[in-house]
Amino acid sequence: EKGGFDWFMRKEIYEQPRAVADTLLGRHTEDGSLTLDEIRIPEAELRTIQKIIIIAAGTSFYAGMVAKYAIEHWCRIPCEVELASEFRYRDPIVGPTTMVVAISQSGETADTLMAIRHAREQHARVLAICNTNGSTIPRESDAVIYTHAGPEIGVASTKGFTTQLAACYLLGLYLAQVKNTMFGDEIASVMKELEGIPPLMQQVLDDSQVVVDLAARLIDQPSVLFLGRHVGYPVALEGALKLKEIAYLHAEGFAAGELKHGPIAIIEEGMPVFVVVPPRGRDQLHEKVISNIQEVRARGARPIVLAEQDDTFVEQFASTVIRLPKVSTILQPLVAIIPLQIFACELATQLGHDVDQPRNLAKSVTVE
Ligand code: F6R
Repeated sequence: EKGGFDWFMRKEIYEQPRAVADTLLGRHTEDGSLTLDEIRIPEAELRTIQKIIIIAAGTSFYAGMVAKYAIEHWCRIPCEVELASEFRYRDPIVGPTTMVVAISQSGETADTLMAIRHAREQHARVLAICNTNGSTIPRESDAVIYTHAGPEIGVASTKGFTTQLAACYLLGLYLAQVKNTMFGDEIASVMKELEGIPPLMQQVLDDSQVVVDLAARLIDQPSVLFLGRHVGYPVALEGALKLKEIAYLHAEGFAAGELKHGPIAIIEEGMPVFVVVPPRGRDQLHEKVISNIQEVRARGARPIVLAEQDDTFVEQFASTVIRLPKVSTILQPLVAIIPLQIFACELATQLGHDVDQPRNLAKSVTVE
């Protein structure tokens, strides 16, 4: 049932091109506009939404962090992201013009469920992004976007995450269409790029030998850092979480720009630091991350750089380069997370851990 793979996790990592493609399937009407059929909130009502609050836990929370960048950029609706376990206990400002988006692979996470119950009591509209048909969270929501990852068995979420990203992008584009914040042809062109991503994810999987070799070289490391900016920041956090969960390694993700505000003090000679480099665009994002790489390198760290295919400029600063296909910045997490998932899976395997059933963790956390 593992289809020839040693772990469900590895099988699920390799299923991601298919899972993302399935999640994007059938979202066009005949005239080319986007439709999300599980949204039972009338468009007129969606136009009254003034604030979006995304709530989730763990990996799903990191998908929510990416969603914030996409939604604010495309829809111009203020968007917050909050841990479900914190949301209810701080008296959040929620009302009929708030849309709460709950992201949950299992649909059963108690923290997230309690948070949406609280939101509904305050008359918010609740939309769930969920992978499990008929689970509690979508049943208690006004609208649902189902991800079509198929059952996720490995405790560490992989295809759950990338399909959540796909669903978040769909939601962002749909809201942009409803709120008229993007032209129809702009939406169509982002959608076209999105639909072209699964083969690029496959390319990352096919080129992953460099990551496997890297895991063998880094097996004795006590600590690994991950840096990213913009949507690369949640990717860094997710890369670190994967290592903690299954390799039981000390790992931390940072916003690259925060380095000099403290974390740079922990950099030591030889410390592996993964850096997610954004595509070279018209903004300064790429340049900024390059200088962050130089900062850690100057203090003896080994930068392991994830950069797009023809970004030859990064080579001089990197101890290892992991190549990513060319995609636009906002969509980059779909391809950038894959090498980090493989790295964690590979390292945990080499350390002799049970990758599918890591110690102390359960697949769905149904207690607060
Ligand atoms: C990470 C992981 C957990 C879950 C979190 C939320 O690999 O599996 O962090 O992401 O417990 O679970 P769901 O999405 O089911 O609400």
